[in-house]
Amino acid sequence: MIKIAVLGYGTVGSGVVEVIERNRETVNKKAGEDLEVKYILDLRDFPGDPYEDRLVHDFGRILEDDEVSIVCETMGGVGAAYEFTRQALCAGKSVCTSNKELVATHGPELLELAREHDCNYLFEASVGGGIPIIRPLNYCLTAERIESITGILNGTTNYILSKMEYEGADYENVLKAAQEKGYAERNPEADVEGYDACRKIAILSSLMTGKNVDYRKIYTEGITGVEPRDFEYARQMGMSIKLLAVSRETKDGTLAMVSPFLIDAEHPLHMVNGVFNAVLVHGNMLGDSMYYGRGAGKLPTASAVVSDVIDCVRHMGKVIMCFWDACDADLISIDRVEHRFFFRVKEGSENTVKALFGDGLEEIRLPGDVRECGYITPVMTEKEFADCYGRLGDSAVGCRLRLEA
Ligand code: HSE
Repeated sequence: MIKIAVLGYGTVGSGVVEVIERNRETVNKKAGEDLEVKYILDLRDFPGDPYEDRLVHDFGRILEDDEVSIVCETMGGVGAAYEFTRQALCAGKSVCTSNKELVATHGPELLELAREHDCNYLFEASVGGGIPIIRPLNYCLTAERIESITGILNGTTNYILSKMEYEGADYENVLKAAQEKGYAERNPEADVEGYDACRKIAILSSLMTGKNVDYRKIYTEGITGVEPRDFEYARQMGMSIKLLAVSRETKDGTLAMVSPFLIDAEHPLHMVNGVFNAVLVHGNMLGDSMYYGRGAGKLPTASAVVSDVIDCVRHMGKVIMCFWDACDADLISIDRVEHRFFFRVKEGSENTVKALFGDGLEEIRLPGDVRECGYITPVMTEKEFADCYGRLGDSAVGCRLRLEA
């Protein structure tokens, strides 16, 4: 019998208990042992809950109990979650987590602690909710040199953008619906400003490079500037707007960024809608492979945590290899990154646009709209574009968007 403790009885933590209970037979069979949730740690009481008898408020009870060999950390944050994770690993208890913030901030240190104490720190649920992506990178694609990872990594923003695109929905109402469905972070800023996707691409980039990609150094833009009018242009161009998290090897170093992008209908991520996430991985031998599924929500995320628990049981006393060194990856400055850009200007700004950007622009007009028009630039660096775009002053309207190649 393997005894487990769940830290945090919120959306994901209660999902972990539910997955273990509802899929008891299959989970136990695949683990090769019977699993039992012995403790649930939470500050709150849950009177009448079927697992009320397992609730504890003191982490010491879990730490001191030698019967507990696996801890599921579904608390979130980098405060108590960090301390409890450290203490659990130092006591030789494996930790399975959905906490991307903690993995992105302290990943290499916690992996090293796990190695030192012959246990594991696993984090499949930290990226892409229920989508298997960490294990494919760690196990299945180990023969590959990964050249790029492009992901739709935040369910809340993808849900909002899809509703805006297909239903012309109002931003505030869609965000509220995402929160009610349990997709959004407690602080929605983390979703809509791109911070959540930033942490997730930091984790994937670190696994891609084998070095530490510090999320604080990743250029990050959210979706708050995207307007309904941008979707009208996107439709006119046969494109969609997605919040992409990108990591790519270049000759000058690793590019990592998060931003809304226009993507055309042929792009593999074009039809990834709603709460679904997808990760497109390009390896130098395999070429493209894509991983798709529910990127947020209670049971999909909990399922990924429980898959890690099963992996821990199968590898009891052995360390599962994970190549993520503490040394910093070599990130290139956003200024040097090249894209095509889309921007909108007020009617009558044609000469200013031409004087700044030259002749190589493609003009986009919405039928019957005489107030403004859009342009697509040739490939240029972020710095070149920012210099020209900044000089448009009041002629520019809305935000500018990048085009994904
Ligand atoms: N808020 C996150 C999302 C939850 O919307 O994708 C999963 O990490």
